[in-house]
Amino acid sequence: MSSFSIYNSLLSMRIMKTPRYFSIALILSLGITTFAWLSPEAMMPTRRSLTTIEMGLPLSRQEQKDYKIITCSSSNELADAISGYVMDTDIVAELGSQLREVSTQICETCKAAVLVDIIRKFPKTVVGGQKRTHAMRLNNTTPFYPDKATFIEIPSLECWRQAFFEGCAQDTGYDVLILDVNAIVGNDLEWTSLSLVQQFEFQNQIARKQSTRLNVKPLLVLVKSMGLNQWASRLVHARKWKGQPDVASSTHIVAAVGVHEYRGTIPCTVQTDDAVLEVGCHLGTTTSIIESRAAYSIGVDIGPKIIREAQDRHPEVFFRVGNAWKTAGLLRIQQEYFTGARIKAEKERKIGFDVVYVDVGGLSGSDGLLEAISLVSSLWHALEPRCIVIKSLCMQRLSSKLIPYWKSQKDYQHRMRND
Ligand SMILES: C[S@@+](CC[C@H](N)C(=O)[O-])C[C@H]1O[C@@H](n2cnc3c(N)ncnc32)[C@H](O)[C@@H]1O
Repeated sequence: MSSFSIYNSLLSMRIMKTPRYFSIALILSLGITTFAWLSPEAMMPTRRSLTTIEMGLPLSRQEQKDYKIITCSSSNELADAISGYVMDTDIVAELGSQLREVSTQICETCKAAVLVDIIRKFPKTVVGGQKRTHAMRLNNTTPFYPDKATFIEIPSLECWRQAFFEGCAQDTGYDVLILDVNAIVGNDLEWTSLSLVQQFEFQNQIARKQSTRLNVKPLLVLVKSMGLNQWASRLVHARKWKGQPDVASSTHIVAAVGVHEYRGTIPCTVQTDDAVLEVGCHLGTTTSIIESRAAYSIGVDIGPKIIREAQDRHPEVFFRVGNAWKTAGLLRIQQEYFTGARIKAEKERKIGFDVVYVDVGGLSGSDGLLEAISLVSSLWHALEPRCIVIKSLCMQRLSSKLIPYWKSQKDYQHRMRND
């Protein structure tokens, strides 16, 4: 309550309606406000009271146009993100609910929640005198936020659809999905979380079509996954790429759409002493542009006829038949190049590439995302480039959806310093 409203309330009382009490009303209202400010609760404002702008988050829920995925690397980060993004009107789904800090944060923040976890017997360790018999949950007998939350245990992960959409919220859909499935699936592969998100989003859209709720916002996904968080930190939209990495000393993935945008990345990406590979080089136009700016470039394509034609057109470039997925074969092609090129300096014979351009068919459609991710992952691990530029529509769409939570913190600190 502000001093102004307290002042008005006091004035509205009959006793205060004489001029001599005006000043008393003023002093009292200022005193009450000061006390409220100094009370322990006021000294420690809840995160909920901060607005999205104050939290420094790169996304405003009000302005959110399509579904977004915020990636977190730890449970603490996830709980922080929940307090920043989840609103008290939201219906929330949590998969991999451990009924601990994260679930508590959800229930403290949202309007209603469906919390789902798998039935498990392990580990059977004892924490605080209680057996953790079900997954990571404590063996707690008291119901968890019974006024807001429905907790459902499922026999296996495949049953998530029934748990979230048959019965619970089947005709309203969800505003937020919280995902933490590493403990359930036993790995932290980016495509595990991503394919779950894709399927959930699809199912949620069906549920929302039957919904009578007004002004529903696009789905917001908050996911705890180190793997996906790495992707979110490295994946850049070609139009935002200036050649300057966000995270030093790690491979960046630049997603381009169309040949113009794909080739447009060359000036800010390729440096004069770089070894560059293009997979899916076709007739070699892009590879030859790269060749003119790099130490050397190699063009690889799966079609032998195409490679013959490319070599005829650009005799100065090294072309070979190869398969983008067979990374050992790509390294053998590089060895072959070294043998023929009579390179003297050891540095120039470094195995692997500084930059890899990827333009193989089938990775652009909406169903090519998981293939694109697995191809980029294998090229990234086998060839250790500084940057991979991929021509893929679905990858570029992903780059607009994925936001690492740490970035919002960095942007916030940057703004605070400049204010
Ligand atoms: C769109 S074209 C590439 C155009 C070229 N990058 C350019 O900028 O001029 C796609 C090429 O990918 C090749 N391709 C498809 N699958 C491949 C694979 N698994 N490995 C290597 N090349 C592949 C096709 O033969 C085709 O020539």
